[in-house]
Amino acid sequence: MKKDRFVPKEELLRQEEIANALSSYWKEQGKTPLAMVITYGCQQNENDSERIRGMLSQMGYGFTENKEEADLILFNTCAVREGAEQRVLGNVGALKHLKKRNPELIVGICGCMMQQQQVAEQIKSKYRHVSLVFGTHVVHRLPELLSETVMKKRRVFCTDDSEGVIAEDIPILREADCKAWVSVMYGCNNFCTYCIVPYVRGRERSRKPEKILAEIKILAERGVKEITLLGQNVNSYGKDADFGMDFADLLREVNKIDGIFRIRFMTSHPKDMSDRLIDAMAECDKVMPQLHLPFQAGSTRVLSEMNRKYTKEQYLALVEKVRAKLGAISMTSDIIVGFPGETEEDFQETLDVLEKVRFDSVFSFIYSKRTGTPAATMDNQVPEEVQHERFERLLELQNRISREINEEYFEKTVELLVEGASKTDSGVLSGRTPEGKIVNFPDDGETKTGDLITVKITKVSTWSLAGEKIG
Ligand code: 5AD
Ligand code: SF4
Repeated sequence: MKKDRFVPKEELLRQEEIANALSSYWKEQGKTPLAMVITYGCQQNENDSERIRGMLSQMGYGFTENKEEADLILFNTCAVREGAEQRVLGNVGALKHLKKRNPELIVGICGCMMQQQQVAEQIKSKYRHVSLVFGTHVVHRLPELLSETVMKKRRVFCTDDSEGVIAEDIPILREADCKAWVSVMYGCNNFCTYCIVPYVRGRERSRKPEKILAEIKILAERGVKEITLLGQNVNSYGKDADFGMDFADLLREVNKIDGIFRIRFMTSHPKDMSDRLIDAMAECDKVMPQLHLPFQAGSTRVLSEMNRKYTKEQYLALVEKVRAKLGAISMTSDIIVGFPGETEEDFQETLDVLEKVRFDSVFSFIYSKRTGTPAATMDNQVPEEVQHERFERLLELQNRISREINEEYFEKTVELLVEGASKTDSGVLSGRTPEGKIVNFPDDGETKTGDLITVKITKVSTWSLAGEKIG
């Protein structure tokens, strides 16, 4: 990997100095400004937002969930599907009135949407109340960019279309306390024909193993129990560098870290899922029995049009191999419905994969045209009503399978890592099984976040389980 992909230490120190200067400025003003960071999209984006909050905190900002009292509202956006983009534009547009009432308010947009030149231009010309725009490759320069907006009261736009960088050791303010996401690599080289990610996240670049391991050790010392290793395609970890280490080796190293009980990772591309990785999963006691392995479509012809580089048969054979070596692990997948040219017969192949594999759950998406990707100009786009009708049929089948799998948990005893209060019920705590299933159980007043407990399942539904603590 080219050396210049690492942001130099001096540059990061310069940003830190600017951050400290802004923090002093706010102190002199006798003010703790409040920031609201709104995140769309995947865990990588959540992880970026945690870094953004870390830098904001260094700049003297506190945080709020209330737009009315915010001094800075920052949207960290996703470009994977049009729906998410429309939501962002709607929510940004709705802030016009707030900005009129409070001219000091800074409205900012960052993330993958801003890496698309035409979208950044649209914001510049049509959303005049937005005064800060930056792309995914310059997140580490937030102190400089925000200071300029605050101090010089000018609109700042900073996007670049480089291949991306790695910025280490920038501050991070994490959301949860018992589990943490750790990026192992950034970017993607696969260029699936429907996907915008390679264009907005740059080329694959792996973090140095010593940096990753040091970060996880610090997390373990702070009481984090579960780590999820993140990357668009973790299976190609290290291929862009000369660490002498691949993802399987990295997993083994993470497995050795004291204090960490559970390790998960995502996402794996079927074409790169090596025997070495399956062996490492089998050997590492802390790696949970769960695998997210997107197949996207069942038809080999569609897979080829998608540039996925495997056939339906190869995917099914891979699942069999994984199950033969790892037993009954939980499997999940991403699926796209209504890719250009998808016929009813092609779609039946997708349903067939669902029936054959019996995933615990799937993330299914209606194909969304992304400007700049090869699939956007394919001339046989599937009509919207056909896409929706197929999508409904897919959900119906998967819901039945998910429920049947969950029913097998009835009256079973499972180990849970307690994640805290349930999001929907007060007096109820929530945790996850090794397979990653959410289980709700009554709060006994003694159980704490981060505890490993034993629960007997008393109720099952399609999406979650409920139980009683027995130990
Ligand atoms: N339309 C619909 N879904 C998409 N994904 C990526 N690009 C698109 C698109 N253009 C889905 C894929 C991927 C997941 C993160 O998002 O299934 O695995
Ligand atoms: Fe997109 Fe394919 Fe890369 Fe996943 S592997 S991020 S679907 S291009």
